[in-house]
Amino acid sequence: MKNYKVAVLAGDGIGPEITKEALKVLKVVEERNNVTFELLPALFGACAYFETGDAFPQQTKDICDSADAILKGPIGLSHEESKNIPIDKQPERGALLPLRRRYNTYANFRPVSLPKELAHFSPLKAEIIGEGIDFIIVRELVGGLYFGKKETGVDDKGQRYVREVLEYDEGQIRQILVQAFKLATARKKVLHNIHKSNVLKSSVLWNEILEEVAVDYPDVEVINMLVDAAATYLCLKPTQFDVMVMENMFGDILSDQGGGILGSLGLMPSACIGDEKAYYEPSHGSAPDIAGKNMANPYSMIGSVAMMLENSFDMADEAKNVWAAMQGVFADGFSTADLSKPGAGVNMISTQEFGDKVVEKLKNMPTV
Ligand code: IPM
Ligand code: MG
Repeated sequence: MKNYKVAVLAGDGIGPEITKEALKVLKVVEERNNVTFELLPALFGACAYFETGDAFPQQTKDICDSADAILKGPIGLSHEESKNIPIDKQPERGALLPLRRRYNTYANFRPVSLPKELAHFSPLKAEIIGEGIDFIIVRELVGGLYFGKKETGVDDKGQRYVREVLEYDEGQIRQILVQAFKLATARKKVLHNIHKSNVLKSSVLWNEILEEVAVDYPDVEVINMLVDAAATYLCLKPTQFDVMVMENMFGDILSDQGGGILGSLGLMPSACIGDEKAYYEPSHGSAPDIAGKNMANPYSMIGSVAMMLENSFDMADEAKNVWAAMQGVFADGFSTADLSKPGAGVNMISTQEFGDKVVEKLKNMPTV
């Protein structure tokens, strides 16, 4: 019997309620397989700040250090509430970026997937969705503008100024590109390289390294696309994409657009992988406006569990079953409020009901 330690950082806002559903699914996985998951809950985010004065307290670091994988819910407060926490201690700067840095989780995989049967979830026309949307954004997660030096001050003219540095070295670029080429090799062998080399020198270096890495993957066709054009094509022709690779900030923005074309950010799970440690989280925020109302979509959190099973625990078949269970709930005509547009013929269910239905489906699936 295998035993894995999973640090559970439920986070803020809707975090605890969607984490609860994800853990229900994990429990069923345990019952169906020869495996146990030792859950190690820990405070992370604004909740940790208010309890301990630190959004990523030492105790949570220790728990994460000792875990085989980390399952993390969304963090953060509303724009107004954030003002109650000093800027550098706010959960995004004070917890999330330090988590990514601590474990050097440089490779962020964000699947954007919608089968054609669920085209009604999307704001795009059915003919644009065609046979379905199914691509993965590979986002560099520990470099670029988000991690560069920052400086604010007052210049000689008495004006306030800010300076933020966008920095990458070739090793950082190469390691994420290798991940993207590997993934493209395992999928359709088409890689969209998203860049802005007509303006940014960082993209010029990125593209140079890409040409070097590409030599090792002659089977992969590379399509270079400017990031602004990519934003348009995500709306006009998303089915052309299979694997897209890009630097940190481009990936942050385009992955939210990915959620938009699916119909909800609630459909966006992700895996953040480093050489030694990985953590799994929804790509979206903590949605304080709907927190505690039992109406958030737990798909992104349950999907993050599926990605954890596949990437950290070598349980790809069971991960597929988890995805299939969620698709099965949709196929039966149910979804949470975010996807229940009037007239779409969808029966609206709560966060908890969605979790219950996934559990029911999964229990009835054959094990291998
Ligand atoms: C994401 C989020 C984070 C990011 C925020 C919360 C710092 O938007 O994971 O996409 O910008 O990376
Ligand atoms: Mg984001």
